Amino acid sequence: MYYASLRSIASFTPSRCVPNSEFEKTLDTSDEWITKRTGIRTRYFALDSQGSSDLGVEAARLAIKRANLESSDIDLVICATLSPDFAAMPSNACLISAKLGIQNIPAFDISAACTGFIYLLKIAKSFIESGAYQNILIIGAEKVSSVLDFSDRGTCVLFGDGAGAAIISRTKDKAESILDVHISANGKYADLLMTPQKADKAPSKDSSDTNHDIHYNGKLQMKGNEVFKYAVRTLIADVEHILSKNAISPKDITHFIPHQANLRIINAVGEQLALKESQIVLTVQKYGNTSAASIPMAIDEIYREHRLKKGDLLLLDAFGGGFTWGSALLHF
Ligand code: ACO
Repeated sequence: MYYASLRSIASFTPSRCVPNSEFEKTLDTSDEWITKRTGIRTRYFALDSQGSSDLGVEAARLAIKRANLESSDIDLVICATLSPDFAAMPSNACLISAKLGIQNIPAFDISAACTGFIYLLKIAKSFIESGAYQNILIIGAEKVSSVLDFSDRGTCVLFGDGAGAAIISRTKDKAESILDVHISANGKYADLLMTPQKADKAPSKDSSDTNHDIHYNGKLQMKGNEVFKYAVRTLIADVEHILSKNAISPKDITHFIPHQANLRIINAVGEQLALKESQIVLTVQKYGNTSAASIPMAIDEIYREHRLKKGDLLLLDAFGGGFTWGSALLHF
C-alpha cells in the first residue's frame, strides 16, 4: 500500500510590492476600505516580462531542491492556474517542465481557479496511491494581474501574483501522509466569477439565477458579495465534513491554512471551528488573493518562519470560480 506525502514546499513572490495607497491614485477607494473589508494591505505584481510560468518555475526549482531530488526524479508535472502564459496551449506545466530541463514525462494544467491547489493534491494523491507515479511536482502559478480590470475597484484591489510548488512523493508511512482530500464544484454559479474572452461562448441563461451583465473583455468579473455568502456557507460545511469523516477535532489541527481571499471569510470559518488565533495561518494581508498559489505560498511562509514541524497536522480549504471548493487534511 502506497501513501502520498507532502515532501517539500516552496514559493516565489515577484518583486514589485503594491500597497493599497497606490489604488487611491486612480480609483474611488481607500486603504481603510480595502483593509477593513478584506484584510489586504499589500500585494505583489509580476513584471510585464514575467509570465505565470516564470513565477512557477522559480517555486518548482526550489521545491525540487528542498525535496533533495533532481529534475530527472520527477515523473509527473501538473500546474493549476487561471492566468496561464497561453490561453489554450501550450500548458504552463509543459513550459515549466521545459524550463526545468524535464522531458518525456506527462505534464498538464488544471482549471479550478482559487481551489486549484486542493484539486492538485487530490490528483497527485490518487496517482501516487495507484502506484502510477513516485514524485509529482504540483504548482499553483498565477499572474492574476494579467486578467484584472484596473478600472474595477470591486476586483482589482483584491488579487496578487505569485507561485507555490510542492513535491508529492510515495511513502509507506501513513503518519506522514496526506490523509484525505475533498473536492467539489457547482457550475450553476459560473457567471458570478469569470474571465470571459471575446471568443467565448456565452453561458446559457439557466447557468445561474443571477443574470448580471457579462463583459467579454478577458478580465476577471465577480459579484463579490454573492460569492462571499456562498463561500462562507460552503467552506464551513466542507471543513466540518472532512473533520468529522476523519474523526479529527479542530483542536488537533496544528495549522489551519485556508485559501487567502478575504480575512472575514477566514475568520468566519475559524470562529465556527472555535480555532485559536495561533492555529490560523494568515498571509492575505501581505500577498492578497493569489488564487491557486495562495495555499502553497502560505504553507511555505510558515515553513520559512520555522513554524512548520514534521508531523504537524494541516487543514486546508479553498473556494473559487466555477464555483469550485475543497478541503484537505495532511501531515507534514
Ligand atoms: N473601495 C471602495 N468601495 C468599494 C470597493 C473598493 N475597492 N469595492 C467595492 N466597493 C463598494 C461597492 O461599490 C459597494 O458600494 P455601494 O454600497 O454604494 O453599492 C460597497 O463597497 C459594498 O460592496 P460589497 O460588494 O457589498 O462589499 P463586501 O463587503 O461584500 O466586500 C469583497 C467586497 C471584498 C469583494 C467581498 O465580497 C469578498 O471578499 N468576496 C469573496 C471573494 C472571494 O472569495 N472570491 C473567491 C475566490 S477568487 C477566485 O476564484 C479567482
